[in-house]
Amino acid sequence: MTDTYHARLAWDSRGQPLSCHFDDVYFSRENGLGETRHVFLAGNRLEERFARLQPGECFVIGETGFGTGLNFLCAWQLFEQKAPPGARLQFVSVEKYPLTRADLQQALQLWPELSRWTGPLLERYLAIHPGYQRLVFAGGRISLTLLIGDVLDELPRLDARVNAWFLDGFAPAKNPGMWTDALFSQLARLSAPGATLGTFTSAGFVRRGLQAAGFDMQRVPGHGRKREILQGQLSQPAPETIAPWYARPPARPDIPREAIVVGAGLAGCATAASLAARGWRVRLVERHAYIAREGSGNPQGVLYLKLSAHHTALSQLVVSGFGFSRRLLPDLSGQDYSACGVLQLAFDARETKRQQQLAAAFPADLLHPLDQTQASQQAGIPVPAGGLFFPEAGWLHPPALCQWLACQPGIELLGHHEPLELIRQHQHWQVLEHGQLLAEAPVVVLAAAEHCNRFSQTRWLPLKRIRGQITTLAATPASQHLGTVVCAEGYVAPAWQGQHTLGASFAFDAMDLQPSLTEQQDNLSRLEAISPALHQTLTAEPPPLRGRAAFRCTSPDYLPLVGPLADAATFAETYAALAKDARQQPDLTCPWLDGLYVNTAHGSRGLLTAPLAAELLAAWLDDEPLPLPRAVAEACHPNRFLLRQLIRARQN
Ligand SMILES: Cc1cc2nc3c(=O)[nH]c(=O)nc-3n(C[C@H](O)[C@H](O)[C@H](O)COP(=O)(O)OP(=O)(O)OC[C@H]3O[C@@H](n4cnc5c(N)ncnc54)[C@H](O)[C@@H]3O)c2cc1C
Ligand SMILES: C[S@@+](CC[C@H](N)C(=O)[O-])C[C@H]1O[C@@H](n2cnc3c(N)ncnc32)[C@H](O)[C@@H]1O
Repeated sequence: MTDTYHARLAWDSRGQPLSCHFDDVYFSRENGLGETRHVFLAGNRLEERFARLQPGECFVIGETGFGTGLNFLCAWQLFEQKAPPGARLQFVSVEKYPLTRADLQQALQLWPELSRWTGPLLERYLAIHPGYQRLVFAGGRISLTLLIGDVLDELPRLDARVNAWFLDGFAPAKNPGMWTDALFSQLARLSAPGATLGTFTSAGFVRRGLQAAGFDMQRVPGHGRKREILQGQLSQPAPETIAPWYARPPARPDIPREAIVVGAGLAGCATAASLAARGWRVRLVERHAYIAREGSGNPQGVLYLKLSAHHTALSQLVVSGFGFSRRLLPDLSGQDYSACGVLQLAFDARETKRQQQLAAAFPADLLHPLDQTQASQQAGIPVPAGGLFFPEAGWLHPPALCQWLACQPGIELLGHHEPLELIRQHQHWQVLEHGQLLAEAPVVVLAAAEHCNRFSQTRWLPLKRIRGQITTLAATPASQHLGTVVCAEGYVAPAWQGQHTLGASFAFDAMDLQPSLTEQQDNLSRLEAISPALHQTLTAEPPPLRGRAAFRCTSPDYLPLVGPLADAATFAETYAALAKDARQQPDLTCPWLDGLYVNTAHGSRGLLTAPLAAELLAAWLDDEPLPLPRAVAEACHPNRFLLRQLIRARQN
């Protein structure tokens, strides 16, 4: 795909950006900062509303048109000045034409007084690709979710309760496609009770449209030369219909913010970190003495994006998850990751066709095709085919990421404990080991990979395990030229601590974790297919059996299970009508297992999906904007399997 999705900018003589798509300015030429503060911050009374927040409370701002991020930075600055410690800001902004990082940097140089906030934004403004992209700042106090796409496509996919809106999508005359009744009704749908709205326009049709959607609107004096602008407040909340099994469990602001997370692989460590960032006290229980001893314990894991040109739920999850994980890498020591790019070889006709479709469906800065010569140059070694190159991807040492996540303030590791029993008592879950109480808390999150279904409440979770083995080979002078991860049916990574990791076998029926020579041989054959030359140098001496086996945990549809859990038997009784007619939507509350959640089944792509899944889980738990489109969150919801069981029962 050619670059049609980044903003095309022109710069005026004072260094201010102009949009070539819309022939309009990003902010007032006279005083952009002053206008932002007047129209959006004062227009939504943010100073007093931020000051009134309670510790633990989360304020949500929604914006149409992220542009240069000026409004976001000003809101963040004000939040830091006025909101009490422990309060959080979630800023959700839609942008059809994101600025490149270089343009963003140039535009933000205009505001030296914001440099304290601009720096972190630029640091994190990486891997911004279509779909939902979450960026986290200030230890989780501030989170920015960019919805990269057209506002009329993205807002209907959003699940959020917005407290204040910034309507900033260029002048209606220059951008009539955006200022539509469809937009206004989405704003009403997504508004929390009492939501307010500020916009720089005073156009009559905008005022009338917003009134018709349920906002009380008024004209007020504008900033500078602008005579009038509009402000509004939601007067009539728009009812929303969500299937009860995918509705949010009732919020529990009264409970102590204490959680137990079972399992300290990547899913558990990330869940603990996302909760701790929201002020939860987390006990992370692990049956081994320390974290990352099983699936998440390989020396090198690859940020490998297996995408679909049809933008399936899984593919959307992978693009958003990739962005989220990629932005975490700079938090690790430089030894423990490399954003060296990933080359996926077009190793047969079918893969070549698939790659052509992907190249047409995704922007070039996410992936682009290379011919064989270019691919060999990029890889630093001869490869037998061209392929797709993912320049921002790479590899990381998964235990280092787990360690960084598990070390966040508010997390306590309880190693050497293997609870397999949960009892609900007085609004708390008791976690028992060998019949003895280990810990209790109002919330428990199961992140124990395939072991999540060993509890009586969760036996129905359809989890499978698939053994995989990686092989490590000592680097040679020639192999040091390998400059990117190269994948075909397996993968090989540039050396880490003198060793290359090759992966990974799939053994579907294996129950043990002894490294196997046969699987090592499979990995070596995969390496030979990737590059005979690399294979030759790395196996000149017959390698000893050296590797590591672990289980991947997957679900029948290969999507993870992330979210609140329901009681399976009561679910079947409550929604028995669905067994007769699957189109029914009975108005009956889902029988949630109050406070019990799961984050598992990350298959062979947990490095991409587990950290973002932790944000999704925290959003379910804390009633925050979901970091993924609702349909993708539902595709990951554990209840999908209870529903399918009911509907299958009808067919049998
Ligand atoms: C060979 C191999 C290669 C892979 N390569 C890649 C790759 O290149 N890129 C990629 O993205 N992904 C890769 N993956 C997948 C990725 O490693 C997993 O998706 C990810 O590690 C899953 O994390 P997890 O936390 O869900 O599971 P795990 O890391 O397995 O963690 C589960 C934890 O729960 C603990 N536990 C279980 N039961 C209990 C209990 N009752 N009480 C306390 N603790 C308990 C376990 O001890 C374990 O520590 C690979 C996987 C394998 C096996
Ligand atoms: C005036 S600028 C926003 C300025 C911005 N808030 C800032 O702080 O710099 C308007 C933005 O809206 C975006 N936009 C315009 N039409 C859109 C649409 N239909 N969907 C999503 N974004 C759109 C533009 O690409 C542009 O970045």
